[in-house]
Amino acid sequence: MSLLQNINMQRLPSHIAIIMDGNGRWAQEQGEDRLFGHLNGVESVRTIVETAAELGIGYLTLYAFSTENWERPEDEVSGLMEILVDTIRKEVPTLNKNNIRLHVIGDTEMLPENARKELNEALAETAGNTGLNLIMALSYSSRWEIEKAFKEMAADVKAGKLEPDAITNNTLRQYLATADYPDPELMIRTSGEFRISNFLLYQLAYSELYFTNTLWPDFRKENLYEAIIDFQQRERRFGKTGQQVKQQ
Ligand code: IPE
Ligand code: IPE
Ligand code: MG
Repeated sequence: MSLLQNINMQRLPSHIAIIMDGNGRWAQEQGEDRLFGHLNGVESVRTIVETAAELGIGYLTLYAFSTENWERPEDEVSGLMEILVDTIRKEVPTLNKNNIRLHVIGDTEMLPENARKELNEALAETAGNTGLNLIMALSYSSRWEIEKAFKEMAADVKAGKLEPDAITNNTLRQYLATADYPDPELMIRTSGEFRISNFLLYQLAYSELYFTNTLWPDFRKENLYEAIIDFQQRERRFGKTGQQVKQQ
């Protein structure tokens, strides 16, 4: 019996963000090299994207490559970039078939030319889709994003376009790479690490966090269902008391 029956379709998280971790350890367990893990991680990406679209989730953000990941050994980085280019090229027809719109957040200037080109084409080719918004965090880190936001805000103040007194927390939000998306309601991290690793520091303020020991290449449909069921059992208080929440 599938866990799907236990999901309340009326109370789905509108935005799920995932730190897809554990590819390297998964490969190591099979006596293979790290790239083998990344290749198998792509299968999980496919399944999870498809599952999120089937469920009718509005936004899915996948942390695929961090700013800090550029520091990994050169062959791993170039292998990952190849997998990226290849995957985007192959997946665009499926994205279109499933009405999925691709978005990217991150310092894409850092990506190799061919990856940037594939990515831009995929963004343009899926721009008209109105179903799931798939946001890939590529060469992304939250501190990079916040630094960029502050630079742009400071430039606007200097140019007289923004009054310092008018700055609110909503102003900062509008300068972030995620300005067009709601905050994640559920954040999942695989592989048993209990940390955020520079992911959406501002946006996760009130997200429900779900950590699982499952390594990313093993994370499939039922694992996502399990995370959503767990999310639906939480009481989200947003600073209020439990009693206030129940009376709402
Ligand atoms: C996540 O898996 C993928 C990326 C960070 C690109 P890892 O490559 O971090 O796998 P582990 O954490 O070493 O097992
Ligand atoms: C976080 O995983 C980044 C991605 C999943 C893309 P890492 O494997 O880079 O994180 P740390 O180094 O364990 O914190
Ligand atoms: Mg890792």
